[in-house]
Amino acid sequence: MFDAYVFDAYGTLFDVHSVTEKLEEKYPDKGKTISQEWRRRQVHYFMIRQLIDGYLPFDQITRNALIDGLKFNRVDFKPNDLEELMDAYLHLQPYEEVGSVKNHLPDNSLTIFSNGTPSMLYPLLENNQLKDTFQILSADEPKVYKPVAQAYAYAQKQLQIAASKDVLFLSSNPWDIAGAKNYGFTTAWVNRQQSEWPSLDIKPDHIFDNLNDLK
Ligand code: LAC
Repeated sequence: MFDAYVFDAYGTLFDVHSVTEKLEEKYPDKGKTISQEWRRRQVHYFMIRQLIDGYLPFDQITRNALIDGLKFNRVDFKPNDLEELMDAYLHLQPYEEVGSVKNHLPDNSLTIFSNGTPSMLYPLLENNQLKDTFQILSADEPKVYKPVAQAYAYAQKQLQIAASKDVLFLSSNPWDIAGAKNYGFTTAWVNRQQSEWPSLDIKPDHIFDNLNDLK
């Protein structure tokens, strides 16, 4: 048992590619490739902004990545298309076992620590009836993105946990697990895509298929 259970949001609790349906409606046969390009650029862009020490809020990053993902796939779009797709990002599907995570940890408070802004995260939880299951910490508070160590230090401070190893941090994103492990959290990689762990010379403490492996 741990003193705190902290979850990444996008890709770990929520399927970022559940926007594919809305994309496919608007751009037949291109939904999947646009969704993949959107997420790839979203991650790439916040990493660049963090490396140049030029914080840009995640909603802006996500919008910029969407625009470039649409252009890259040579589809036309108007401002209201962007609004519709950004709104779809507030309605991402949670993975099917997320709703029952609380049953595995009835005596623990569960925390989301995400690079997402509060303006993205609160509606997302509200829309999925999860606002009473998770408390939210956002990198937009310290204005430092995961996987920088300072971001996890912020989360630990907010949680008032003395020893970082007493936090179990769960993410499906290897870059996030590497950052959390490097910082000192105990880590569980939620390997939803059944992929190989990348050769980062740093390894997760645990590897889960999904959150039902939480005991
Ligand atoms: C998150 C995404 C970016 O921090 O993994 O929720």
